[in-house]
Amino acid sequence: LRVFLPRDSAALAVGADAVAQALQDQGVDVVRTSSRGLFWLEPLLEVDTPDGRIGLGPLTAQDVPGLLQALRDGTPHPLALGRMDDLPFLARQQRLLFAHAGLTDPLSLSDYEAHGGGAGLRRAIELGGEAVVQQVLDSGLRGRGGAAFPAGIKWRTVRQADSAQKYVVCNADEGDSGTFSDRMTMEGDPFLLIEGLLIAALAVGASQAWVYVRSEYPHAIATLSEAVAMARQAGWVGADVLGSGQSVDIVVRKAAGSYVCGEETALLESLEGRRGLVRAKPPLPALSGLFGQPTVINNVVTLASVPWILAYGAQAYSAVGLGRSRGTLPFQLAGNIARGGLVELGFGVTLRELVFDFGGGTRSGRPVKAIQVGGPLGAYVPESAWDTPLDYEAYAALGLTVGHGGIVVHDDTANLADLAAYAMQFCALESCGKCTPCRIGSTRGVEVIARLRGAAPGSTAQQAQRELLNDLCDTMQHGSLCAMGGMTPFPVRSALDLYPADFGLAPQPAR
Ligand code: NAI
Ligand code: SF4
Repeated sequence: LRVFLPRDSAALAVGADAVAQALQDQGVDVVRTSSRGLFWLEPLLEVDTPDGRIGLGPLTAQDVPGLLQALRDGTPHPLALGRMDDLPFLARQQRLLFAHAGLTDPLSLSDYEAHGGGAGLRRAIELGGEAVVQQVLDSGLRGRGGAAFPAGIKWRTVRQADSAQKYVVCNADEGDSGTFSDRMTMEGDPFLLIEGLLIAALAVGASQAWVYVRSEYPHAIATLSEAVAMARQAGWVGADVLGSGQSVDIVVRKAAGSYVCGEETALLESLEGRRGLVRAKPPLPALSGLFGQPTVINNVVTLASVPWILAYGAQAYSAVGLGRSRGTLPFQLAGNIARGGLVELGFGVTLRELVFDFGGGTRSGRPVKAIQVGGPLGAYVPESAWDTPLDYEAYAALGLTVGHGGIVVHDDTANLADLAAYAMQFCALESCGKCTPCRIGSTRGVEVIARLRGAAPGSTAQQAQRELLNDLCDTMQHGSLCAMGGMTPFPVRSALDLYPADFGLAPQPAR
């Protein structure tokens, strides 16, 4: 019997280790893989059969004896899900980045290579830096951390910068609410990120790469560190990367535990050993980044998208997507959702398809009231936009953000005034303190929301507080140095506009 069970934190959190132990106690060898990203089914066991892998889940250790008996007898089991490849949640996805999810042992380089891993790096070595940068440009890949800046332009800037020392930094400080695609990559397919880092470093002429991993991700830090050590042993990382004659080292760093350290310049400060204070731009990190040297900073998913582009060609990648948003995005379904998990699809899918067709609506079974896209700084998306094909430009035109692809769903028991106040509180807690609109504005924001909610409906006092909140949001949006203070007004304003009753206000025309 050949069985597979995930070992990443999404599975461990719901008891995957106990299930693995129960299987081992029954004499069954378990191959520990990564999660497929069907979180509501974890711990999800997969069993090899002549027809392909069949799934069983969600399992507890107590289910194991009965399940093994059913497998031996060939009788149906209530937790059997059928062939994994036939599950609509998976079958309808377009998995380029997460092609290995659930299939490979994350810490086996030979398994990685057996599934096509390494082809992108070998191709990059053949092509040389200039042509690699051109491939990334032609692919249309844009930064997946949220800002969507073209990765190829950033790489070209660093490649053309005149400096003896350059760096690649991977931003793995994935702090947005409802996001986990970076974590899944690092825990489930660490060699993919390593391959992306090596391609980037070779392309721009950097001899050193750093991965700054969220401190709340101990499993990702452990898995990635082990994978880097294995890659060094195998001659991928180190003095002569796969015989290319170029040297690239990779260092994994535990982040400082602060949301704002996900902002690229605060990240650099932190990596250099200082407090995570945002730096003013310019200079751009591409010209003067880590220790003042030209630095490529990309997030995990951006870098991990590159091996596919090199292996299959820029054209194949840019053939997927919509408008100027090319390729796929791993959407992450979270919050009050029946089927939470990872949905990788080309840009152009709608929020309604993601939340209802894939996600199955709320977990509570109650109506969906609000959907926030793009993390704690993202706006609540009005129902009128649930059918808008998702791409960066279409969302920006509506004042919305795609961000890092995190989607958080709330049912009709949520109070959006509470959530708006929470957005301000979050900003007050996480602000680096460098600029006044964010440092002080966020605290005033908490207070003014409380006063607005406490005022008598329809009173002049209520109207005055509403105007004050609007002014404050304007000041934060336009006067803050970085996205922390600059985007906190997005969830606050959209909550106010879309759910005025939660603030004790009469409905008003949408802004
Ligand atoms: P930005 O637009 O200033 O820059 C985007 C990237 O492009 C940066 O790396 C910047 O250095 C680079 N860049 C800009 N012009 C360049 C040029 N001419 N040449 C080379 N490189 C250039 O955006 P920023 O402030 O870095 O990020 C803001 C975004 O971050 C927001 O849109 C938000 O969605 C996202 N965000 C993501 C979070 C997450 O957890 N993933 C959390 C909070 C915000
Ligand atoms: Fe720091 Fe906030 Fe200003 Fe950003 S907006 S620089 S987090 S104080």
